Amino acid sequence: FKSAVLAGRHVVVTAGPTREALDPVRYLSNHSSGRMGFAVARAAAEAGACVTLISGPVTLSTPAGVERVDVTSAADMEAAVNRVIDDADIFIATAAVADYRSAQPAAQKMKKSTDGLILSLEKTPDILGQVAERRPDVFTVGFAAETEQLETYARAKLTRKRLDLVAANQVGDGLGFGVEDNALSVYWADGSRELERAPKEQLARALITLIVERFYAQHPD
Ligand code: PMT
Repeated sequence: FKSAVLAGRHVVVTAGPTREALDPVRYLSNHSSGRMGFAVARAAAEAGACVTLISGPVTLSTPAGVERVDVTSAADMEAAVNRVIDDADIFIATAAVADYRSAQPAAQKMKKSTDGLILSLEKTPDILGQVAERRPDVFTVGFAAETEQLETYARAKLTRKRLDLVAANQVGDGLGFGVEDNALSVYWADGSRELERAPKEQLARALITLIVERFYAQHPD
């Protein structure tokens, strides 16, 4: 970045998967590696922001100059976000938060005494939705991972959750979860931009450049 365009700004980024316990030894989760979120946190720090990175279980090292908070479940991630969101300017939700968790995690290891097993699940807290609702002054960026109808589903998230920006990635075909590269279609109320396929580090810089543009369009001072 040519100058520290985000100097004096606090950016909060969520990254990685969450793990939702079924019992003391098993959990529900997904294939997020945290790479996209860590790259976004690094790019925001390079742009001069003070960055808090709240990450689910991943095996990545913390980018230079970034404050990292490790969490396990969606409930932990929600609590960690709530602890820092009060003085945030920008919230970027890159995490693949598990949408459901066990309604009653077992206190002891579940026994495989039956042939089949029906799990009762409940929704996890919508961390991004809550921030957008309770803190309309924070510039909110959601991610959307879709396997079909990218624009329709991404725009639905933008409107329903009242976000400022949605970065949508088509998953599969060597893109999205776990892999090196990604491509993003970014949508806001009256515009969109395609960020072409690139390594996540490079793509994250392009995304931060766009976020800066849209953020200062809303905060012209
Ligand atoms: O980690 P990598 O391996 O690099 O992979 C990157 C990625 C594919 C995980 C990432 O680019 C991505 O797309 N993340 C969002 C995944 C997703 O499907 O999100 P969603 O459609 O479930 O949720 C939409 C948005 O709401 C996301 O910004 C998510 O962080 C947020 N959310 C979702 C559920 C929930 N309970 N709380 C949330 O905050």
